[in-house]
Amino acid sequence: MDKKFKRTTVTSALPYANGPVHIGHLAGVYVPADIYVRYLRLKGEEVIFIGGSDEHGVPVTIRAKKEGCSTQDVVDRYHKIIKDSFQEFGISFDVYSRTTSETHHKLASDFFRKLYDKNEFTEKTSEQYYDEEAKQFLADRYITGECPRCHAQGAYGDQCEKCGSALSPEELINPVSQLSGAKPVLKSTKHWYLPLNKHQDWLKDWILNNHKEWRPNVYGQCKSWLDMDLMPRAVTRDLEWGIPVPVEGAEGKVLYVWFDAPIGYISNTKEICDKNPEKYGNWEKWWKEEDTRLIHFIGKDNIVFHCIVFPAMLKAEGSYILPDNVPSNEFLNLEGGKISTSRNWAVWLNEYLVDFPGKQDTLRYVLTANAPETKDNDFTWKDFQTRNNSELVAIYGNFVNRALVLTQKYFDGKVPALSEITDYDKATLQEFADVKGNLEQLLDNFKFREAQKEAMNLARIGNKYLAETEPWKLAKTDMERTASILHIGLQIAANLAIAFEPFLPFSSEKLRKMLGMETFEWNQLGKIDLLKTGAALGKAELLFEKIEDEAIDAQIQRLERIKKENEEKNWKPEPIEGESTIDDFAKLDIRVGTILECQKVPKSDKLLQFKIDDGMGGRTILSGIAKSYPNPEELVGMQILFVANFPPRKMMGIESQGMIMSAVDKDGKLVVTSVSKKVANGSRVG
Ligand code: MF3
Ligand code: ZN
Repeated sequence: MDKKFKRTTVTSALPYANGPVHIGHLAGVYVPADIYVRYLRLKGEEVIFIGGSDEHGVPVTIRAKKEGCSTQDVVDRYHKIIKDSFQEFGISFDVYSRTTSETHHKLASDFFRKLYDKNEFTEKTSEQYYDEEAKQFLADRYITGECPRCHAQGAYGDQCEKCGSALSPEELINPVSQLSGAKPVLKSTKHWYLPLNKHQDWLKDWILNNHKEWRPNVYGQCKSWLDMDLMPRAVTRDLEWGIPVPVEGAEGKVLYVWFDAPIGYISNTKEICDKNPEKYGNWEKWWKEEDTRLIHFIGKDNIVFHCIVFPAMLKAEGSYILPDNVPSNEFLNLEGGKISTSRNWAVWLNEYLVDFPGKQDTLRYVLTANAPETKDNDFTWKDFQTRNNSELVAIYGNFVNRALVLTQKYFDGKVPALSEITDYDKATLQEFADVKGNLEQLLDNFKFREAQKEAMNLARIGNKYLAETEPWKLAKTDMERTASILHIGLQIAANLAIAFEPFLPFSSEKLRKMLGMETFEWNQLGKIDLLKTGAALGKAELLFEKIEDEAIDAQIQRLERIKKENEEKNWKPEPIEGESTIDDFAKLDIRVGTILECQKVPKSDKLLQFKIDDGMGGRTILSGIAKSYPNPEELVGMQILFVANFPPRKMMGIESQGMIMSAVDKDGKLVVTSVSKKVANGSRVG
């Protein structure tokens, strides 16, 4: 770490408590933050890792409305689910609290008040939409209407999801309140604004000149903001749910969620420091000392709030440090589609653990291997399986297992002696001499994906070493050499436990016990005296298990089912097309007939062959509906409608004399049309 810093405060974005967390959250924010913190802890550095739930704002109130319960119920329920998921995945927060806590309400309120007293806000009265029936001002998301750009219905007050335009509520055509269905009216209201324009100059200098090392995606987004004129931002809202604005005459107003939530990082630090001062000391040192380094882990949709708005708030307050880095990831997609809570297009962490109990590290591994560090990336179940089976199992697991099992077998489970080091051994040791330096270089620069690769490379070195020295063969002829090889193999395994600890903490813990190590630290990495000759190993267990095709197929099928459900949910009748006249219609001769026979056309997966009693001696008709009727016999005896005057047409060597009329259902299935009462075959339809 940079010499000017003594300690590190690591924060990870506070997730909204409006739903469980999914792999996108884990990959984008929590796994990288956890890797980083674990790495610093292993190095013995002073670090605190802050998390918590974001429990205010419109997203949680919308969820409560949808579920028909109180907002408090929603945040209580999801806070617990989220907190448990993080714990189960080994995200090692020093504190995971919530923005509805008393500590936070007080701290955020005081923070606002201090800025207010220092005259750091501007006040403005403006016209905003109000619902006279629900008697409240409407958040942008609570107003829908016709999009002024693409004219789609149901556009939100802040965005049209059809064409993607950013909107403001006044632009909507025929706005409707989602609370009562009433037409909202404009009403004037006063709010407090953080004048970002006043902060623009120092922000520009601070980021654009002094933080060129930030990730290109972060730096680039900041630059495009800072190249424009920043505008004052409202930091209060007319809402009931939230932290009351601590100013006279502000009844019915709360702090904007993006004002209070980042202060949650500070409140949660205070909470844990007050609770455990021996361990953490005074909370202020983590936020106010120049020798503290502040790092925010976030997703890309949070960049502007953490790089521009929150720093402006901290600066305006006056006693806080600013972030030293804001490692933000891009998005993780799932099987090629954007992860979406509302469309259930996600792998939920709580569900993953039901299907893959004990396999936290596999998911951590795959998410880091595919981390969207520089661009959006894709999670696929096939890749998940391959990485588990051919990397974790076949390389890391296999190597460790061989070293341990052979030691059990030939040396009674005790670390055998190293009697000589051959040139080949030296070459192997040389290969891993750089691992520590390489890992540090990568981890210090937030390159977790490559860092994990480097750790895996160490496992590859070990695996290759045993594969080439073949101690299981040597054991028959040369016990001394076998001992030396396994000694080195076990030392490499011990190195792996350390190198992988930040990434795969559960497996490292298991391996540490298997090797009979009490503790380890980062500085031991690269050494080959981690295990003492003669020391007893623990019980050998498999570090990783193979994942079978069935488990993967089940996941893929689940996603296919969800995709289909979504398609059906979003189904709307096709728009009416063109114009037709009675004369056009009269040209078609549509008749009623009874199905006498119906069977699949051999070699065709689409066509059914019908024998129809048309009242005129009968006819054959082919129809491409076989996929919709797996048991075609069920149609026999039914009266159907068919077009009788199309010219005959040959398909698969059979002549078709007409067309059976079918409806296309929303799932794409074809359903033949019929009459509501029996009529004579050959009757005309018109
Ligand atoms: N709840 C926000 C989101 O999910 C993130 C808040 S981060 C904090 O996008 F800084 F405000 F805490
Ligand atoms: Zn639109």
